[in-house]
Amino acid sequence: MKHIVYFSASAATSGKALSKYADGGLMKAGRMDIAIHSFIQGVFLSHDFRKDVVFHFIFYGMPDPPKHLQIQVTDELEISKKDVGKLIQKMLYKYKEGGKTEVFPKCFIEKKSFLNVIEELLEEGNEIFLLDKKGEDLRKADISDNCVFVLGDHEGFPTKEIKRLRKSDNIKFVSVGDKMYFASQTIAVVNNELDYRGI
Ligand SMILES: C[S@@+](CC[C@H](N)C(=O)[O-])C[C@H]1O[C@@H](n2cnc3c(N)ncnc32)[C@H](O)[C@@H]1O
Repeated sequence: MKHIVYFSASAATSGKALSKYADGGLMKAGRMDIAIHSFIQGVFLSHDFRKDVVFHFIFYGMPDPPKHLQIQVTDELEISKKDVGKLIQKMLYKYKEGGKTEVFPKCFIEKKSFLNVIEELLEEGNEIFLLDKKGEDLRKADISDNCVFVLGDHEGFPTKEIKRLRKSDNIKFVSVGDKMYFASQTIAVVNNELDYRGI
């Protein structure tokens, strides 16, 4: 299984907060537009889905951070590119304190911090790659089937968390080139590299 972890320090963390910005106001909802573009690049193909990808959103915006939304597309999930915002909103509305709620098949929401999500993915035996412009060249990196790619939104990662992750021997920092790309563009590059390698 492959995982993509998208971190946003500002994305809205309740359904109500997101609904306030309905009708094209996703940019105000903590740049939910970037989260949606990233998700589309992560799991959508033309006329198909990447069903072997688990996509994680970690939102630290107001009013109730942190929120961890975990989504895997299955045949049971009704989803279209136009409805990703609605899917996120429905999941945020269904959050229940104190647990991990399965809102749709293989779509969960819980309160969990960025570092705890990474820790859990490591404990499950995954190899973690953090997308960073100054990291090792992705094309030269050894990548196993159980890989996790972590990226930030327009603001990148919080300093405290990134310092902790840099100290860990289990996390590799990888770059997709010398230019600073949109979050969603880096996901497209990563998926293409994995496709070439048959991962
Ligand atoms: C628009 S960038 C963030 C820019 C932000 N100002 C910063 O300095 O991190 C969004 C995310 O895409 C990823 N990214 C962008 N360009 C990259 C590159 N050349 N190599 C690897 N990851 C990249 C990083 O994970 C980054 O957090």
